[in-house]
Formats: sequence, C-alpha cells, structure tokens
Amino acid sequence: MSSMGLAAVAKALVAEGKGILAIDESTGTCQKRFDSIGIECTEQSRRDYRGMLLSTPGLGEHISGAILFDETLRQSSADGTPFVQLMTQAGILPGIKVDTGAHPLSGHPGEKVTEGLDGLRARLDEYHSLGAKFAKWRAVITMGENIPTSACIEANTHALARYAALSQEAGIVPIVEPEVLMDGTHSLDECYEVSEVTLRSLFNQLYDQNVLLEGAILKASMVISGSAAEHRANVQEVADATVQCLLNSVPAVLAGVVFLSGGQSDTEATAHLDAMNRSGGLPWPLSFSYGRALQSPSLKAWGENPAANVTAAQHKLVHRAKMNGLAATGSYEPALEAV
Ligand code: 13P
Repeated sequence: MSSMGLAAVAKALVAEGKGILAIDESTGTCQKRFDSIGIECTEQSRRDYRGMLLSTPGLGEHISGAILFDETLRQSSADGTPFVQLMTQAGILPGIKVDTGAHPLSGHPGEKVTEGLDGLRARLDEYHSLGAKFAKWRAVITMGENIPTSACIEANTHALARYAALSQEAGIVPIVEPEVLMDGTHSLDECYEVSEVTLRSLFNQLYDQNVLLEGAILKASMVISGSAAEHRANVQEVADATVQCLLNSVPAVLAGVVFLSGGQSDTEATAHLDAMNRSGGLPWPLSFSYGRALQSPSLKAWGENPAANVTAAQHKLVHRAKMNGLAATGSYEPALEAV
C-alpha cells in the first residue's frame, strides 16, 4: 500500500462523528469481563459476544473501525460469515491488536514494558493478508512514588515507534497507545506532567524511526485525576488540561487522536470528549476508541440472557456509539441519554 493509502485509512478512522470500538481484550482480560456477568469464557462464548457486537444493525454509522484480538480476526459468525467480511459490509474497518502484553520491566519495580516486536514483521504480513487495515500497540505507564522513570518511558516509546514503522511497512495504519494509568492518588497536574513527557518522548521516537504521521493515529489517555485522588478534577478541567497537553506535544500533521476510556464510566468518557471538542479550532480530529465505555451497558444486558437479549444488547451499543459520535463533534447533551 502506498503512503497515500495509509493516510486515507487513518483519515477514515477519525471521519467526522465516528470513532473506534475496542474489543481486543486478551483472553485473560475477557475472562475478567465475563466473570463479572457470570458467563463462562470460552472460544464459543467470546465469538457469540463479539459476533453480537459486530453484527449490530447500523453500527457503521458512528463506528469507523473495530480493534480485534488475534482469535477474533480469524472467527466467523454462527452462519459462517467471517467477521472481517461482516465488518467490511457494514463499513467498519478491521483492526488488530499486535502487542503481546505489558510485562514487568526488569530493574524497575512497579513498572512495565510492552513486548511483541520479535517476529512482528511476519505477523503483520499475515494480518494484512487476513484483511487488517490498522493495528494497535498499548504501552502502560504507571504513576506512583518515584515512577514513572525515564527508562520506562523510553523503553516503551521506543517499542511503540518500532512497531509503528513495521506496521506502515506492511501497509497497516498504526495506532500508538501510551496509556498513563488512572490508578492512584495523583493530581490532575501530576498526570499532566507525566502525559506530556510521555508524548514528547513518543513523537521524538516516531520521528527517529521515520514514521509517517499522516498515516498514524495516537490513542491517548486523558489528563485526569487518579481514581483514588482526594480531589478529582471536573469535566471542564479534564478537557482543558488534556487539550493543552496535546497541543504542547502532538504535531499538527498527525491524522488524529482517539481516547481510551481507562476505567471512566461510560457517560463520563462521553462528557469529557464532548467538552474537548466544544473548544474547537484543534489541528486534529479528537475522537474515541473506547473499550469498556462502549461495551459496558451492552455486556451487562447480554450477560443477563445471551440467547434472548441480543437485540437489547445491540441497542445499548448503538446508543453509546451515537452519544460518542455526537461528542466527537462537540454536540452531545446529557439529556439525550434518556431518549
Ligand atoms: P478502555 O476504553 O476500556 O480503556 O479500552 C481501550 C483499549 O483498547 C485499551 O487498550
């Protein structure tokens, strides 16, 4: 694929009023989600659940792409239609998570580094042949006493840039995700500092590795108070700090920025995105790539009765997609939640 192709795909992922559905939970994380609704986590139940989400009527109206796990990219719905085909018919671009998880960073207690570079070139070629148009790699930055260290930030951003270059070589748009975790008691200002240092390091590394920014997407965590902080910043404070941090560290030529929800409630994640887009005049589209904040209501409804509640669960997914689609253009109103 030419670089024009990469830029066109990246642009489509952040098309006006659209965002990304993240359903790329590893089997271990999926197990945790299914445990919470009392459903056994098997290859079949994961297929039924994700097939239910992907076949939601009208999903393509507000969802530009979905990030899949390796297993899901190879699965088909009960009637034998491959998920990739189902998605393509619905106008939803297939994406793939390609990292192999965050592991303890040796010599740095409490910190992690994401692995998966070994053999990545061959895996990307296969994913491309299976129909993947974009990929995702998630790095985890933990905040705490004396962490993150610059060693942790640099190891992670270097890996992100190596992954991004390999993805573009394979004709796949990279989503680079350096997640600053919300866990902890840190303040909004402390989160701002760590987020800015991390993003500056990331874009330096992307520059060093010759990554084409017009054909790449940043998946960012919001600048937000720690989940256990004594005083938690309000919606406008989070929106202002996040926009300021991005303006200070993200080149204008980047195709777009999408956010993860990271443990925020579904409506909180929507309100934050909406407040950011209301400020207007930003150099890149700001949209969503939520996992939990898109799936939670749907997962709960499905878990109550997987056979009978398919339509109800799909309705809940479409609703969240629509609310976030409005937030991506700064035209969300909380009152619409009740409609
Ligand atoms: P959350 O929105 O649940 O944080 O998940 C997004 C994601 O893909 C994390 O890598």
